[in-house]
Amino acid sequence: MFATELDPQTPNIARIYDYYLGGAFNLPADRERAARIGSVLPGMEMLARLNRGFLRRAVAFMVDEGITQFLDLGSGLPTAGNTHEVAQARDPRAKVVYVDYEPVAVALGRRILRDNPRAVMVEADARRPDDLFAHPEVREVLDLDRPLGVLMTGVMVFVGDHEDPVGLMKAYRDACAPGSLIALSQLSDEQADAATKAQVHAMVEAYKGVIEQLYVRDRAGVEALFEGLTLVEPGVALMPEWRPREDAEIPTGSPAHHLGYAAVGRVD
Ligand SMILES: C[S@@+](CC[C@H](N)C(=O)[O-])C[C@H]1O[C@@H](n2cnc3c(N)ncnc32)[C@H](O)[C@@H]1O
Repeated sequence: MFATELDPQTPNIARIYDYYLGGAFNLPADRERAARIGSVLPGMEMLARLNRGFLRRAVAFMVDEGITQFLDLGSGLPTAGNTHEVAQARDPRAKVVYVDYEPVAVALGRRILRDNPRAVMVEADARRPDDLFAHPEVREVLDLDRPLGVLMTGVMVFVGDHEDPVGLMKAYRDACAPGSLIALSQLSDEQADAATKAQVHAMVEAYKGVIEQLYVRDRAGVEALFEGLTLVEPGVALMPEWRPREDAEIPTGSPAHHLGYAAVGRVD
């Protein structure tokens, strides 16, 4: 039973996120905090689902482009339709390294993946790419001479402008072989109405105490992160509008529809 995972009384970001996605790996303290966050931003669950939906479509796109190895930065728990589930269903050879800096998520993730020989989870800080690429498990699983699929969904929201996110993106770009694809999604309130903007602000406040800080970016801020990469069509788009599945319903009525940008860039 996962309830023994560190302190069950302390809400945990990965488990809160799992709750939003309808997963089974969350505890009462997580659900209580999730409800508190949800009461200030009612579209929170939808936002998590739209974000994960983009991740899934990006992974499927990458597999179709011939990518067979993935680095998922700030992955949270490897459940609820996460990278290895999508990639290995499309190509059983696909290998995945999940990275999170949060020990509870990593401990639980390792347990979830223990029977999957092609997916591992490592504890590392995505803001330190040199350390990450020197990590023995990363070196063992990934061949950096071949194209890589890098997922940065819902993670740059934790990296403030004072931490040089553009430089960080460049470091990943430089470490990746040509043909690699980098997917990123980012919380944004640029296209939200005034009431939703206020709710986003309140949500950022409500998250305090669980994580350090959330950083919201506009489209120009997201485009800046892709400097030096070639954006694949349709470029930077609202999350549900990035290559939507033909049969998918786009939730245009939900405020969450406007709360995030997504894009995939190619390393030339
Ligand atoms: C909102 S969840 C996103 C989960 C998943 N990537 C998705 O898009 O569905 C963000 C995760 O990023 C992790 N995280 C945030 N900053 C990180 C960092 N600097 N290094 C590694 N993990 C980080 C958090 O612990 C959390 O599990």
